[in-house]
Amino acid sequence: MALSYPSLNIVKEDIAGINKNPANDFSDLEGSSILITGAAGFVCSYLVDVIAYLNETKFKDFCKIIAVDNFITGFPRNLGHLKNKPYIKVINKDVSEPFNVEPVDYVVHGASIASPSFYRRYPFETMRVNVDGTWKMLDLARKHNVKSFMYMSSSEVYGDPLPESIPTPEDYRGNVSCTGPRACYDESKRFGETLSMNYYSTYKLPVKITRTFNVYGPRLYLNDKRVIPDLLSNALSNQNIILYSDGKATRSFCYIADAITGYLKVLLSGFNGDVFNVGNDQEEISMANLAKLIIGLTNPRLKVIHKKSSEKEYLTDNPQRRCPDLTKIKMKLKYHPEYSLKDGLKSTILWHRFQNNKQKI
Ligand SMILES: NC(=O)c1ccc[n+]([C@@H]2O[C@H](COP(=O)([O-])OP(=O)(O)OC[C@H]3O[C@@H](n4cnc5c(N)ncnc54)[C@H](O)[C@@H]3O)[C@@H](O)[C@H]2O)c1
Repeated sequence: MALSYPSLNIVKEDIAGINKNPANDFSDLEGSSILITGAAGFVCSYLVDVIAYLNETKFKDFCKIIAVDNFITGFPRNLGHLKNKPYIKVINKDVSEPFNVEPVDYVVHGASIASPSFYRRYPFETMRVNVDGTWKMLDLARKHNVKSFMYMSSSEVYGDPLPESIPTPEDYRGNVSCTGPRACYDESKRFGETLSMNYYSTYKLPVKITRTFNVYGPRLYLNDKRVIPDLLSNALSNQNIILYSDGKATRSFCYIADAITGYLKVLLSGFNGDVFNVGNDQEEISMANLAKLIIGLTNPRLKVIHKKSSEKEYLTDNPQRRCPDLTKIKMKLKYHPEYSLKDGLKSTILWHRFQNNKQKI
């Protein structure tokens, strides 16, 4: 059966690529059911699509997907192309509130408010989904005696790591403010991890934790306010790129297709009660050089301009460097990110150009 992604060819190609790689065996999902929270968001809608692809191309027995989102930052259009598929049920629900679902085999808890500008704007909603939401999902997973529960945490649990702890391994304990403007996210993600580990140690719930380092790609919309969409938003409208900093801070960006492979490897592994960094360790890049790279890929006549953000807390507690140590996930799960930053950005730019043209028609 053909997949119905009339306008999302890049996404479709990424997903076919993930499934073509012989190192990626996700057959344990066949005939099972999975609850995915935050399913209308950037990352989890891709995850939904990978399972949809498996259902349509490989599995004889569908993997049933229960996709939950309250759409506070996610978009129904990310799941719209799957509307009439028999294997997916979309539930509009705040996961911080109690709710029941039919029995499930797997839970991926990805619901959160993830963009710094949005979590500074919605601090209580952010803490509630990461604390109450995680608690509810752990209870639900325990009730259904799931095969695996994956909590999507963040590299933000490391805060602003000390120089000797970069690249940052999973056993680094963090350098995090508990009162600053980013704390609503960082500290509630940390608590979500503590809670998850206690469900593992007390109830033997097969919990896994992923700590994601700066994922980007199609469906990270230009108004998301994370750095790549911000810079692309300027460049794709042929405006000089504005950096609201001195451009010296660094990040290591991971293309979405690589991250999804990492998540599925962790979810389907036997490493219960374990934590894995997910990201790309190949190219730590400064924001100034990222802006230059984007200019090179879009319109070489553009310039980089430095300005002060109108958001007062924009740079407060902003980590200066971020790069994952991926030794553990590479050794234990044979995870190897494949996309260079340049190639991932090229795909992302193509996707945005296609979306923009479509909107103009
Ligand atoms: N993308 C990254 O680089 C990155 C980095 C670190 C961690 N993460 C984590 O990965 C997960 C996915 O991130 P993303 O980039 O796709 O973010 P996103 O904002 O695109 O997606 C999150 C989704 O969660 C939904 N949501 C928020 N609160 C909810 C609630 N109370 N009930 C139900 N749904 C709710 C939002 O509507 C959205 O669709 C998040 O948990 C995020 O913290 C992502």
